Amino acid sequence: MEDAGRGLEQAAKLSTRDFARLSLFIYDTCGIKMPEVKKTMLEARLQKRVRLLGMSGFTDYCDYLFTAKGQQEELVQMLDLVTTNKTDFFREPDHFVQLTQNVLPDWWQRHPGTTLSIWSAGCSSGEEPYTLAMVLSEFALKNPGFDFRILATDISTRVLEKAKNAIYAEALVEPVPLEFKKKYLLRSKDRASGMVRIVPELREKVRFRRLNFMDEDFGMREQLDVIFCRNVIIYFDRPTQEKLLQRFHRQMKTGAHIFMGHSETLSGLDVPLVSVYPTVYRKLK
Ligand SMILES: C[S@@+](CC[C@H](N)C(=O)[O-])C[C@H]1O[C@@H](n2cnc3c(N)ncnc32)[C@H](O)[C@@H]1O
Repeated sequence: MEDAGRGLEQAAKLSTRDFARLSLFIYDTCGIKMPEVKKTMLEARLQKRVRLLGMSGFTDYCDYLFTAKGQQEELVQMLDLVTTNKTDFFREPDHFVQLTQNVLPDWWQRHPGTTLSIWSAGCSSGEEPYTLAMVLSEFALKNPGFDFRILATDISTRVLEKAKNAIYAEALVEPVPLEFKKKYLLRSKDRASGMVRIVPELREKVRFRRLNFMDEDFGMREQLDVIFCRNVIIYFDRPTQEKLLQRFHRQMKTGAHIFMGHSETLSGLDVPLVSVYPTVYRKLK
């Protein structure tokens, strides 16, 4: 018994060497920085994969991950566990006020009769793009003729599946204003389940797709009017942030806006975007 217990303990330990190769690989693959202080977190998150695959420890896991087969079969699973996906409906609510009161009226005046293209970049389990869908639908009600489409992308297939299903526990939709809940959320037939679903009219407005910001080609032909990329670049180092923002800049139409998370600043980055409200930037030319 004792031996078995010790075996399990050993299997759960991530050596300095394995941590070094994993952290370098994660940085190269998805840009997420993994300093030494994250070692315990990484160990905890990947332990279940080691166990599930019946491996004796992290060295076997790394050896497998770096093979062609591992790259094909394990990479996506590993990234699902490595990413931090915390999100909320109406997170950082003043951004939605800025959008409705300033950005949209100005855009609508300059582009009557066209469809607004908006990208939730790093959308996690869908709370951000569905919040946008609610807010934009409200704007459409007050401005007949206004239309929009939302692209929502993330690197994690696990959160994208959740987002596409659009089913949430009632506790998670608490930040949604009551009148929006009535309009845009469906209660489960089984009331005791405590689950709600986003109405089909909003689901139809959001297109979900897997996209890794480190990919050479985003596979996007269209340019965007608005980008929400909030609480994502915080996981990247400055050179990676700068490179990504330069790519976002190319993806934006002249006059487009980009919303960053409240703790994320572009100051000091070599990107031609101008700050227009706190953590909101604009491409002027
Ligand atoms: C903390 S969540 C933020 C979700 C949402 N934007 C919000 O503010 O509530 C960050 C998301 O970025 C995604 N992400 C991290 N690295 C990425 C990459 N290299 N490419 C695409 N998405 C990435 C993660 O999977 C995660 O879902």
